[in-house]
Amino acid sequence: MSSGARLAGKRIIVTGAARGLGREFVLHLAALGARVLAADISQAGLEETCKQAEGVEVLPAVIDVSSAGQTRALAQTARDALGGLDALVNNAAVVAGLSRRPFEEIPEEEWDRVLTVNVKGTWLCAAAVAPLLREAGGGSIVNLASEVAFSGSPGVAHYVASKSAVIGLTRVLARELGPSQIRVNAIAPGFIPNEGSAAMLGGAAYDVSATPLGRLGQPEDLLGALAFLVSDESAFVTGQTLLVNGGRRFG
Ligand SMILES: NC(=O)c1ccc[n+]([C@@H]2O[C@H](COP(=O)([O-])OP(=O)(O)OC[C@H]3O[C@@H](n4cnc5c(N)ncnc54)[C@H](O)[C@@H]3O)[C@@H](O)[C@H]2O)c1
Repeated sequence: MSSGARLAGKRIIVTGAARGLGREFVLHLAALGARVLAADISQAGLEETCKQAEGVEVLPAVIDVSSAGQTRALAQTARDALGGLDALVNNAAVVAGLSRRPFEEIPEEEWDRVLTVNVKGTWLCAAAVAPLLREAGGGSIVNLASEVAFSGSPGVAHYVASKSAVIGLTRVLARELGPSQIRVNAIAPGFIPNEGSAAMLGGAAYDVSATPLGRLGQPEDLLGALAFLVSDESAFVTGQTLLVNGGRRFG
């Protein structure tokens, strides 16, 4: 990768990197010159991500983001293998396999699992890497929220609550980490069809008639926002949640 590449020299962790959006993020950031540590609970999926990243530097790290010890180990791996860190993409989440049901009927175990991975995991990963970002003189954290935090999409109350919490966490971390020149922003995608998100629709079609751009989003639609937020191009942007959803609005 030439030193003139947009993210040349950037050391980035992407969680939830074994498939779906996380895999696309890894491949794109690496193609822009970043050195990427791809983290996920699925070893087999990570191996496939690394295989697809042929020719660019991607290192795998099998971890559970909801384990404090494992997120600290991830930060240590970044220190050992990358010599430090410039950015974290908090993408891992429980989303696959969630079916829609009234909020009173969500099993308590499922509620806890969604909140634990999606919220506690985001917090733990940020906390684990903050010392590394401070050592680097600053950096960027990008959290994956969702448009459901704005729409209040019925049937997945735990998931909506978790993504709303991610937006709040983004704001508070931006304030606490700002003095260390660590920026914290979120991307809130609209519905992007893939194997993880398909069950969310419960067999229904996603109605694009209320989307000004009149189509469904694709993973590639998120890549520009991601590259902007991890790079120095967004050096004066923090605490923001960028809806990338074709302009759909919620009243
Ligand atoms: N696809 C969409 O429509 C959509 C829309 C809005 C927001 N998002 C958000 O984007 C992100 C990626 O979504 P996706 O559709 O690619 O989902 P996905 O289910 O395909 O991928 C999620 C990844 O997270 C990993 N993961 C789950 N629990 C983990 C844990 N405890 N520790 C480590 N890794 C773990 C999974 O193994 C998987 O590889 C999520 O945060 C999701 O909430 C997705």
